[in-house]
Amino acid sequence: MSSVSSSSSFDLSGKTALVTGASQGIGYAAAERLAAHGARVVVAARSEDKLKSLEGKITEDGGVALAFPLDLASPERVGDRLKELPEEFSGIDILVNNAGITADNLLMRMKIEEWDRVLRTNLTGTYAVTKALARGMMKKRWGRIISVSSVVALMGNAGQANYAAAKAGLIGFSKSLARELASRGITVNVVAPGYVTTAMTDELGEASKTELQSAIPLKRLGTVEDIASAVLYLASEEAGYITGHVLNVSGGLYI
Ligand SMILES: NC(=O)c1ccc[n+]([C@@H]2O[C@H](COP(=O)([O-])OP(=O)(O)OC[C@H]3O[C@@H](n4cnc5c(N)ncnc54)[C@H](OP(=O)(O)O)[C@@H]3O)[C@@H](O)[C@H]2O)c1
Repeated sequence: MSSVSSSSSFDLSGKTALVTGASQGIGYAAAERLAAHGARVVVAARSEDKLKSLEGKITEDGGVALAFPLDLASPERVGDRLKELPEEFSGIDILVNNAGITADNLLMRMKIEEWDRVLRTNLTGTYAVTKALARGMMKKRWGRIISVSSVVALMGNAGQANYAAAKAGLIGFSKSLARELASRGITVNVVAPGYVTTAMTDELGEASKTELQSAIPLKRLGTVEDIASAVLYLASEEAGYITGHVLNVSGGLYI
């Protein structure tokens, strides 16, 4: 029988989540949403001030949060840093691997430093956080690992070979982990956003945004809330029979 009651939709009380890249954009919205559904949330990124302000906002709204500075560009140090989580936040049940950067260039102009920087933060950083936190989930025999990829991983995008390779890497990584961890009650899934209005897409000019919009069947860019909803669903008890899935949230840009 289902363990889910109709009165507790997406109820995450008793769960602790960690969201990377939570200082702004999609990660910020996802952290707020998980907290609004009862999860205690560790918000991680490099910008401590922004994390503190999110911690304050979640607390003000009646939730529980902890600002936790973490730099994924040094994946070798991530495991030790995560051991410094205070006891009351140390048992992470839900991991949202959201932090990501771009360093766009056409291949012929792409420096190895640009390739390496994007792979290191977006893919190796995710490996490091996931490895450090999966053990606790295995012990509890319950867990949710959700990684934020991109439709660019599925479609390709000129000028983003490094980013697309890293984001496609997240999909292979997640599908493999889904198989490794299923017997421990851990689901591993991917959210693949299309174009979402955030600092990352602010870099696009108005003309490119209008052109993009016309290529999207639902005729608008996504919002951070659109992506947060997908993350919340995959984090929930309700999504317990979904693993190894790539949830494309792109307004139909990728079909
Ligand atoms: N916006 C889109 O259209 C779109 C589409 C598809 C996929 N995505 C993906 O969605 C995720 C969030 O994107 P967004 O649009 O919200 O981007 P954003 O506004 O640029 O936010 C990126 C987040 O990642 C964090 N971050 C960057 N480097 C980091 C590092 N070395 N260590 C720890 N955290 C780091 C940033 O925090 P700090 O700078 O404070 O460290 C920030 O919180 C990314 O993975 C992105 O690739 C975005």
